[in-house]
Amino acid sequence: MSNVTLFSGENIPLEMHKVRMIQKLKLLPIEERKRCIEEAGFNTFLLKNRDVFLDMLTDSGVNAMSENQYAAMMQADDSYAGSETFYRLESVLQDVFGMEYFLPAHQGRACENIISQILVKPGSVALMNYHFTTTKAHITVMGGSVEEIISDEGLKIQSTAPFKGDIDINKLNEAISRLGKDKIAFMRIEAGTNLVGGQPVSMDNMREVSRICRKEGIPLVYDASLLTDNLYFIKIRDEKYKDADIKDITREIASMMDIVYFSGRKLGSARGGGILVSDRELFLKMRELVPLYEGFLTYGGMSVREMEAMAVGIKEAMDMDIVNQTPIFVEALCNELISKGVPVVTPPGGLGCHVDASAFCSHIPQTQYRAGALGASVFISSGVRGMERGTLSEQRNEDGSERLAEMELLRLAIPRRVFTLSQLKYTADRISWLWENRKLIGGLEFVEEPRVLRFFFGRLKPIGNWPELLVKKFREDFGESL
Ligand SMILES: Cc1ncc(COP(=O)(O)O)c(C=O)c1O
Repeated sequence: MSNVTLFSGENIPLEMHKVRMIQKLKLLPIEERKRCIEEAGFNTFLLKNRDVFLDMLTDSGVNAMSENQYAAMMQADDSYAGSETFYRLESVLQDVFGMEYFLPAHQGRACENIISQILVKPGSVALMNYHFTTTKAHITVMGGSVEEIISDEGLKIQSTAPFKGDIDINKLNEAISRLGKDKIAFMRIEAGTNLVGGQPVSMDNMREVSRICRKEGIPLVYDASLLTDNLYFIKIRDEKYKDADIKDITREIASMMDIVYFSGRKLGSARGGGILVSDRELFLKMRELVPLYEGFLTYGGMSVREMEAMAVGIKEAMDMDIVNQTPIFVEALCNELISKGVPVVTPPGGLGCHVDASAFCSHIPQTQYRAGALGASVFISSGVRGMERGTLSEQRNEDGSERLAEMELLRLAIPRRVFTLSQLKYTADRISWLWENRKLIGGLEFVEEPRVLRFFFGRLKPIGNWPELLVKKFREDFGESL
């Protein structure tokens, strides 16, 4: 992606790739969109993709692959043990991260399962800048708990801080002296901190956290799923790294960590995952769990075709023209929304544009799932599918009470190389219409509430008849338009 200035003076992000394979899309009339979200229990996860116009649920496993990735899939070596594909992927990862040992796993959460089984004991605490849903679920299942020590700036919706994912070093020191290092299962840094709006972590911060953890003997775990977005921000927001090669930055980050893991559905634009580690003893402990939960050590639950695509994808992820596409598009969508008065997380991060549902739907009580209601109403208004990242995505407290999220966000993910500027413009237009009509949106309540990771397949219903009112107003304003 390059930023190009037009003759008119306007700056536009210009793609440094062309589209050579397409998937046809359908934009259903609003009445049908309403019926679809009703059938999906007002949960965007339960929509059928055939009914979705622009799928901004996630970037996970849905990034566009390159011609080289597809070509590599053809050379996959289908053998249960000792596949050549594994050795190709292993050598790419060793080269990119500079770490010696690689364990394959079927996706990011599988890595979290293995790491948590080895490091979390009942009563122990995992410190982190911020939790991710699956990470927290694996830690709590092992009897541990999560403590978030992100900088205060990270929890402000609007900010000018360049690295909102940074750890608050005072909170880290305080947690170590309060808990004692033996009670701390590990310290986890999440690149491109997902649930606070895809916000990056700075090199200086990681270095300091690493220094403290090494001094105290606390294992330091890096979730590199959103590494590429984070690398982009290090390059453009940290003067010291503006001329650095992103592969060198990656190696420098990895050298500070004890364990690096990733979701290959994000990093590498394929589908899979893996753990990297330098310490042999730790490697051997984790290795035992791979055949138990994933598959033999040379595929770990992944298809060899995906492993080939991932190897190429991770190599390509060291190219700034590829890495910068999502953050530049996120910025473009955020700026378009900001210009129409819609509240979004700032500065724009990676991963997606995050709409502030607390400001958008301040008239809806938090217990009625503002961000979920906003997600359902964005789908009704536009056919665009986003993801709730707020109270619905939280787990209830042990006594059954709601744990209210610190941030109520609707994430509009921008998978890499998938959407066009006109699609972003359409999205911004319909959301700005909804913003003007926001008082029509009402709350949601559960009809079926799963105990674990309820946001994935819980079903809800609207409180009142607000979806009908929304459709009526849309027809008044847009006539016959889709
Ligand atoms: C930061 C982060 N960590 C871990 C995961 C889990 O990865 P997976 O979906 O491959 O299990 C995700 C998935 O979205 C993520 O964003």
